[in-house]
Amino acid sequence: MRVLVTGAAGFIGSTTAELLLSEGHEVTALDNLVTGFRDNVPTGAEFVEGSVGDRALIRALGHFDACIHFAGLIAPGDSMARPETFFTMNVAQTFELLEGLIENGVPRFVFSSSCAVYGDRVTIPIDESHPTAPHSPYGESKLVVEHGLKWLSQLGKIKTASLRYFNAAGGTPLHPENHRNEFHLIPLTLAAAAGDRDGISIFGDDYDTPDGTCIRDYIHVADLARAHVLAVEALDRHDALTLNLGSGVGYSNREIVEAVARLTGRSFPVRYVERRPGDPAAAVASNDRARDVLGWELTHSSLDQIVTDAWAGYQQR
Ligand SMILES: NC(=O)c1ccc[n+]([C@@H]2O[C@H](COP(=O)([O-])OP(=O)(O)OC[C@H]3O[C@@H](n4cnc5c(N)ncnc54)[C@H](O)[C@@H]3O)[C@@H](O)[C@H]2O)c1
Repeated sequence: MRVLVTGAAGFIGSTTAELLLSEGHEVTALDNLVTGFRDNVPTGAEFVEGSVGDRALIRALGHFDACIHFAGLIAPGDSMARPETFFTMNVAQTFELLEGLIENGVPRFVFSSSCAVYGDRVTIPIDESHPTAPHSPYGESKLVVEHGLKWLSQLGKIKTASLRYFNAAGGTPLHPENHRNEFHLIPLTLAAAAGDRDGISIFGDDYDTPDGTCIRDYIHVADLARAHVLAVEALDRHDALTLNLGSGVGYSNREIVEAVARLTGRSFPVRYVERRPGDPAAAVASNDRARDVLGWELTHSSLDQIVTDAWAGYQQR
């Protein structure tokens, strides 16, 4: 297959591009490096520096068998300060990309959505029929795109898969997690373990959870990458898919911090501070549909494997 991977200089896009190449596919990596790193683009991919919102560029890239669209702004907190930028980058530019792809007859589109589309968690685990009511412009930007994609597939323009990731984590030797302005708990805690920051703050220890801290579902980036390749293949059999990608297991913030201390053998200050507005007590995926539809098996997403791989990547960097 010839695949266009947008955001391939980022964490999940680079890992997925690497997997596609290792399986003999041809990859064009499109990234404007607004937050990504040129070094992350896998050797063997054709790199195009540019924006997904540049429709003339997309048209000039020609035909692909599929596009996997990772490019976008990712920090929900930033989206509260700059909602207009998030809607421009994540929504308007995505539809510019789609216009170009449709003009070029690209038949399949796989989209990085997020568990941020779900609002207050009514049921745990969360399945795909759970109500959606995002708490941030970031989550809303993902949901708006999902709605548009449903129409595009229903009207026969392009087949689409919206993949709602929970917390991407871990890392592979070639593509360790490396976000500018990091806000994810595991890499921040690893930085504390490495002595690169003054400890770690946990927001809230009075939630209605067994140890009082928030519970999240962590999915190893290698398992996420595999799901994308399977989703492209599944669009041969389906016109439209909406799938959760999570491990189905929740870990509390306290458990994450303890796992980092145990697996790195380092101690560091842990501060329990005020809750952060908008943080739900728990977010854990039901991944039954993804397993059924994709035949997806998780092979890397135990907590110990995630933290061990993330620590190896942190030290490598
Ligand atoms: N990391 C997570 O836990 C997580 C969870 C849910 C969903 N997602 C989604 O997965 C996708 C990838 O996340 P990531 O963690 O790899 O992020 P990342 O920041 O590492 O990668 C995003 C990449 O997109 C590029 N980019 C941004 N806007 C662009 C544009 N207009 N044109 C071309 N390139 C552009 C950036 O330069 C960067 O390389 C994002 O869409 C994100 O919203 C991530």
